[in-house]
Amino acid sequence: MLKTKPKIILGIETSCDETACAIVARDEKRVTILSNIVASSVDLQAKFGGIILEQAAREQLKSIIPVIQEALRQAQCKPDEIDALAVTQGPGLIGSLLVGVETAKVLSLVWDKPLVPINHLMGHFYANWLGKEIPQFPAIGLLVSGGHTDLVLMTDHGKYQPLGGTRDDAAGECFDKCARLLGLPYPGGPEISKLAEKGDPKAFLLPRPMIESHNFDFSFSGLKTAVNLLYTSEVKKSSYTSEVKCNLAASLQEAIVEVLIKKTIKAVQTFKVEQILVAGGVAANQTLAKQLIIYTLQKKMDVRIFIPPPALCTDNAAMIAAAAFFNFHPIDPLTLQANPNLSLVDQN
Ligand code: KG4
Ligand code: ZN
Repeated sequence: MLKTKPKIILGIETSCDETACAIVARDEKRVTILSNIVASSVDLQAKFGGIILEQAAREQLKSIIPVIQEALRQAQCKPDEIDALAVTQGPGLIGSLLVGVETAKVLSLVWDKPLVPINHLMGHFYANWLGKEIPQFPAIGLLVSGGHTDLVLMTDHGKYQPLGGTRDDAAGECFDKCARLLGLPYPGGPEISKLAEKGDPKAFLLPRPMIESHNFDFSFSGLKTAVNLLYTSEVKKSSYTSEVKCNLAASLQEAIVEVLIKKTIKAVQTFKVEQILVAGGVAANQTLAKQLIIYTLQKKMDVRIFIPPPALCTDNAAMIAAAAFFNFHPIDPLTLQANPNLSLVDQN
């Protein structure tokens, strides 16, 4: 087993409907992606308007070996050049997680490489360690994905203090559910943001749930109800045109983004930190990125904002491998169990 710090890690991520494998290298200065393969069953899931658990797991099984082979091929890497393996342990869909976890266990035993379990939610933040600039602690982390909306104070690798989270729907879930109401395909976030480009964000005044609350919690399910009421009334009046659809999308996006920014800034000011790390699928939203930057510039805040490029915001294995470099705690592969219910602050 490994005596020195790992230089090359192969990461595997199968928590939901993406089957991903990446090979990532680390030197003194930075962490670099050698290959990053993502096979998605999202088009298949889109036909059903959401994820069907068993189907997602079957697609994982079909894709996992070809995806690993392709990652090795593109990185021009042989198994004996890899120092360690990292795999998403949870949270996620149990059938999907099992495919990645069991494959990683077998590879770890057959190749005789250390195996590092990674919490998927923590993994999302490490997409920010794949750029030229490396984040420093302390930082406020905003995790915005399909199932999570969490604010955390990060004081070191693996040391997170939860500040707040959503009490009902996550931001991504709100995008997805509203998109479905408007007849848009899954996943809804990118669809809403595409329509929003042509819409007026001030056209409909949607609620900003909990924006002034004295905590760091969120609530997005009321927004979905508000969008539904507006949509139904526009349809009844026969005035639901494509312009109205774009306006609704833009107004929804504006409401979600405003709440996310306000709460994040409040956390930055409360804990007096100078770094913000945004992560998760919704971080791919360009309006969120732009408005967060503009807000901090206007307020002359001394803060650095890290947001991964869009392809590294959504699920991928490069972030899982990157996380393993900084949280290198290998375990006996035979003891590793997929855990669909891990939370952000659970240690693997
Ligand atoms: O992190 P992720 O890929 O998977 C989870 O771990 O949940 O996040 C998926 C979520 C979906 O809800 C999707 O609609 C949302 O991220 N999303 C976006 C955008 N791209 C993906 N939401 C808003 N704007 C986007 N551009
Ligand atoms: Zn994710």
